[in-house]
Amino acid sequence: MKGNFNLKFDFFQERTPPVIGVDISSAYVKIVELASAGKGEYRLEGYAIAPLSKDAVVDGNIAELDNVVDAIKRAWKLLGSREKRAALALPAAAVISKKVLMTAGLREEDMELQVESEANQYIPFSLDEVNIDFQVLGPAPNNPEEVEVLIAASRKEKIEDRVAAAEGAGLKVSIMDVETYAAESAYTLVSRQLPNNGNDQTVMIVDIGASMMHIDVLHDNESVYTRDQAFGGGQLTQEIQRRYGLSPEEAEIAKRKGGLPESYTVEVLQPFMQSLAMEVARALQFFTSSTQYNRVDHILLAGGCAAIPAINQLVQERTQVNTLIMNPFKEMALNPRIKPQQIAADGPALLIACGLAMRSFA
Ligand SMILES: Nc1ncnc2c1ncn2[C@@H]1O[C@H](COP(=O)(O)OP(=O)(O)OP(=O)(O)O)[C@@H](O)[C@H]1O
Ligand SMILES: [Mg+2]
Repeated sequence: MKGNFNLKFDFFQERTPPVIGVDISSAYVKIVELASAGKGEYRLEGYAIAPLSKDAVVDGNIAELDNVVDAIKRAWKLLGSREKRAALALPAAAVISKKVLMTAGLREEDMELQVESEANQYIPFSLDEVNIDFQVLGPAPNNPEEVEVLIAASRKEKIEDRVAAAEGAGLKVSIMDVETYAAESAYTLVSRQLPNNGNDQTVMIVDIGASMMHIDVLHDNESVYTRDQAFGGGQLTQEIQRRYGLSPEEAEIAKRKGGLPESYTVEVLQPFMQSLAMEVARALQFFTSSTQYNRVDHILLAGGCAAIPAINQLVQERTQVNTLIMNPFKEMALNPRIKPQQIAADGPALLIACGLAMRSFA
């Protein structure tokens, strides 16, 4: 049983040696390397993005291992670092997490036993098939004799697949985190730019990638709501393919680097931007109508779709909520070989990789 508290699934581990953050998402492998710039500040040392083939990662699962290994190898080479220790993350959907109350001051062993028995009650698999981890969050809100404990569990195979991909590319996995937690770490770099440092504010992070729109709402800098919606830039890529008879790879490059016919902006891009803004407005409405919160103070747009010019203005018009582009590197020192303009465009898609790279300094 003890073996279940596997070091490989240790998103709560506190201090670690330097790591690179490796985000294996649906369209890209993204790597970020940070260095300490003193006083708890970071410097961005390098980053790299390598495309995956369309069916390599499906619904957060690694479907074509060789393709993923190959993309990690390419990204690592582009990064040009010698660091091989990596922090990876599981999609939130692959993790079951639950907050429980326990008596304060338990010994580590007693705590592990209690975590197992709690986990037994809410995990729909045999405990042999899962990795479990837990973290004491702090005193229980209403009872000083109890502590609040966050337990998280994931099926072993989900972890093993990701580890196999990273190891296949020559990396060594030293941390397995959860994507939402990694994004929330990166959020601490951005919350400083909000009024009152984000305190007392309700902030909706909307990460729009290739296939998914991930919503995470924080109130007073704590996550209070998460939700995934099937919407992403892949829809725009498909429309480009269809309209202009391009392959998926050609469409993706044209979309990012330009070179499409003049009709593109008005006939393809703008309708996509409209539907994106509408999806965000719907997500916002869903949140306010299904929770105790009746307003959101700021929307932060992340993910590759946040690189679409002026998309925040459109979302702001639609939602009437102050909307910003979420670039975790905005106030960070940069290694001189990184171009500020390029990181401004790439930063929002690197949220998870950045949060993972921050783990070395936690
Ligand atoms: N400059 C740009 N203009 C328009 N779209 C862009 C631009 N840059 C990236 N994208 C789009 O953003 C998407 C990729 O975003 P991101 O890297 O966040 O996805 P992902 O993390 O792989 O996806 P998911 O989170 O859904 O698994 C792609 O559809 C890509 O075409
Ligand atoms: Mg993503």
